[in-house]
Order: sequence, then C-alpha cells, then structure tokens
Amino acid sequence: MGWRHWPAMAGKRGLATLLAGIIVAVAGVATSLPASAQIKNTKHNLGTTAGSTGVNQFSGTAEICVFCHTPHGADTSAAVPLWNRTLPLPASFTTYDSLGTSSLDGKTAPVGSVSIACLSCHDGVTSMSAVINAPGSGTAGDATWAAGTWSGANQTGGKIGAGLITNIGVDLRNDHPIGIQYGGGGLKASTPAAATTDTDFKTASNALIGTTRVWWVDTEAAPNGTRQKTDMMLYTRAAGVGSGYTGQTEAEPFVECASCHDPHTTNGTFLRISNAGSAVCLACHIK
Ligand code: HEC
Ligand code: HEC
Ligand code: HEC
Ligand code: HEC
Repeated sequence: MGWRHWPAMAGKRGLATLLAGIIVAVAGVATSLPASAQIKNTKHNLGTTAGSTGVNQFSGTAEICVFCHTPHGADTSAAVPLWNRTLPLPASFTTYDSLGTSSLDGKTAPVGSVSIACLSCHDGVTSMSAVINAPGSGTAGDATWAAGTWSGANQTGGKIGAGLITNIGVDLRNDHPIGIQYGGGGLKASTPAAATTDTDFKTASNALIGTTRVWWVDTEAAPNGTRQKTDMMLYTRAAGVGSGYTGQTEAEPFVECASCHDPHTTNGTFLRISNAGSAVCLACHIK
C-alpha cells in the first residue's frame, strides 16, 4: 500500500509529465529519508542487526521485518499487511467504552484492524519470536527457532515485561479508545464527506483506493487532501460480525493504534508527528 496518491493524474496529464512527477516524487522521498530514519534505528528492531535503540534482542536472526511481516502464509483474520503473528482473540480484551464515561459518543467495534496487530506483542501475552513463518526454508524447525534466546531487561522469555508502560495489557480501559468510530460517527461509504455527529472533531479527508473508501485527518497547517504517513490515519472497517460494531450497515472509519503511531518511524514513541503543543491530540480534537 502506498501512502501517497495522485488523484486522476494519469488521465489528465501526458505520460512524460506523469513520469517527471513520479521521478520528482521519488527523489523527494529519497532525500527526505536519510539512512538513519528507518525502523533499524528504533526499538522495533528486535534482531541482532546493529542500530536498535531498544534493549530487547533475539539472538536467532539478523532480520528486522520477520517479527511482524512474512512474504507468504500471513494471518488474514484482520486487515493488516502480511502479518506474521497469530492474532489474539478480540474477546480477550476489555475495551475503553466499558469504563462508562458519560461523554463518549462513538460506537466501539471489536478489538481488531491494525490495533490487534500491535497488541499481538503489546498485550504481553505471547513471545515476540512466536511468528508464523520463521526465516529459512519450510516450516519444520520454526518452533525451535521461536523458542531461542532473548536478552534485555524489558522482556521475559520474549514477552514485553509485566508492569512496564509498554505492556499495554488486555485491559484497554486505561488507554485512548481504539476501534472507535471517528467523530462519534456519521462518516460512511455512501456519505464519505458527511458532518461528524460530534462537531468537536476536525474534518476528515477521504479517497477511494481500489474499491475501498479510506479516510484520514490531514495534519498540515493548510490541509492538502493528500494522504501521507504524517497524517492521522483512520482505518476502514467493513460492516459485519467481527469487523464492525453491532448494527453497522456499511464501511466506516475508525481510530486505531496506528492512527497516531507509525511502527516504522524514528519519531519519539513512534508518533506520526511530533506531539509538541499536543499536536497529535489537536490533529483530531477541536479543544
Ligand atoms: C514491530 C512490528 C513491525 C515491524 C518490525 C515491521 N513492520 Fe511493517 N508494518 C507494521 C504494521 C503494524 C503495519 C500497518 C501500519 C499502518 O497501517 O500504518 C505495517 C505496515 C507496513 C507496510 C505497509 C504500509 C506502509 O507504511 O507502507 C509496509 C510496506 C511495511 N510495513 C514494510 C515493512 C518492512 C519492509 C519492514 C522491515 C524493514 C517492516 N515493515 C517491519 C509493523 C511492523
Ligand atoms: C513484534 C512485537 C511488536 C509489535 C507487533 C509492535 N511492537 Fe511496539 N514495541 C515492541 C517492543 C519490544 C518495544 C520496546 C518495549 C520496551 O523496551 O519497553 C516496543 C515499543 C513501542 C513503543 C514505545 C517506544 C518508545 O520510544 O518508548 C510504542 C509507542 C510502540 N511500540 C507502538 C507500537 C504500535 C502502535 C504497534 C502497532 C502499529 C506496535 N508497537 C507493534 C514490540 C512490538
Ligand atoms: C489517539 C492517539 C493514540 C492512540 C490511538 C494510541 N496511542 Fe499509543 N501513544 C500516544 C501518544 C501521544 C504517546 C506518547 C505518550 C508519552 O509521551 O508518554 C503514546 C505512547 C505509547 C507507548 C509508549 C508508552 C510510554 O509512555 O512509554 C506505547 C507502547 C503505545 N503508545 C502503544 C499503543 C498501542 C499498542 C495502541 C493501540 C492499542 C496505542 N498506543 C494507541 C497516542 C496514541
Ligand atoms: C485520530 C484522531 C484522534 C487523535 C489523534 C486523538 N484522539 Fe482522542 N479521541 C478520538 C475519538 C474518535 C474519540 C472518541 C470520541 C467519542 O466517541 O466521544 C476520542 C476520545 C478521547 C477521549 C475520551 C472521551 C470520552 O468521552 O471518554 C479523550 C480524553 C481523548 N480522546 C483525548 C485525546 C488526547 C489527550 C489525545 C492526544 C494524546 C488524543 N485524544 C488524540 C480521536 C482522536
């Protein structure tokens, strides 16, 4: 999935202009991403590759992506890209709405989407090396690989340590709501630009990518209507059991862990943008 899109560009401009645009865009990406601005230089580098800023390391591999992604045989029980981990059961979590704050407007879907992918490590329940497809040929030996040696003060047997704030756990009542409708509801596939029910929220942008309607909240001072990794992503959930909330009839946007976080960025605490001046919070909330 690419985060940038150029609406209707191919149809409106000549091929040479299009290619020139792509070359400029690629050059722009290349120059704005110095070698250090990569997941290798973050706490999400869990193998033996040098550069990790975290303390948790698994001796069995010098790979980085394998703890989360596999090119083949991925889990498809939630809409997350090529996920190499068995996802926890949604019912194992207590959701924020059960706290019962009287100000909450939005409906809550089962824990799923990209959030349950984050929680496949951050719930602290399963070893982080327990992947579906370990490096190398075939699957024989994957269990032995997964049971290999972990080091680092913030894990026990590869599970994020109990009591650490990074151990989000299975009780989500003390965490910002996830799997929650954006703006208290109102946005849906048939009315993608409708006003949100709760007017204390910024207007979301939307686009049709393939057959899926996607929404996001622009973070630029002057919203540019183009989806970037530094915008607050909203995640589309289809209607239906296990995906949407009870009574949902069509695709709608939800706030998930990766609305605020990009797991690959070198920004502090993996935030999509700096939170100076509470910019992350004010990207969505009008307060
Ligand atoms: C700690 C877990 C984790 C690791 C390690 C990881 N990813 Fe991801 N990746 C994710 C999650 C979660 C998503 C979905 C995030 C989102 O919606 O922005 C994702 C999305 C992606 C996407 C699609 C969205 C995008 O940002 O372009 C690509 C491509 C990708 N990862 C590639 C990689 C590669 C290549 C590596 C290794 C160099 C890697 N990832 C390592 C968790 C991880
Ligand atoms: C493969 C396991 C794994 C997955 C999947 C994973 N993380 Fe992490 N994450 C870790 C580990 C390990 C740490 C470091 C924990 C520690 O040392 O306390 C960490 C740290 C973090 C931190 C704290 C960074 C800091 O600077 O202190 C954030 C924020 C975070 N992860 C968010 C996410 C989000 C959001 C997702 C999903 C998009 C995700 N993680 C998916 C393993 C994972
Ligand atoms: C609405 C925005 C938002 C959502 C949604 C969100 N986070 Fe965060 N998260 C933040 C911010 C902001 C911080 C930085 C807090 C700080 O500086 O202490 C943070 C910090 C963290 C940390 C590091 C905690 C610390 O203080 O060291 C982890 C781990 C984390 N988030 C994981 C997750 C996971 C997993 C999810 C989904 C279950 C999630 N986040 C959902 C905004 C969000
Ligand atoms: C991606 C958009 C988004 C971002 C970014 C965001 N929020 Fe939220 N937040 C929401 C949504 C949507 C709700 C659910 C509101 C509702 O349904 O009433 C919510 C709910 C809340 C609630 C609970 C309201 C209640 O009635 O119980 C608080 C408090 C809150 N957010 C604070 C924050 C803070 C603090 C930050 C920054 C760290 C932040 N939010 C960042 C979208 C966001």
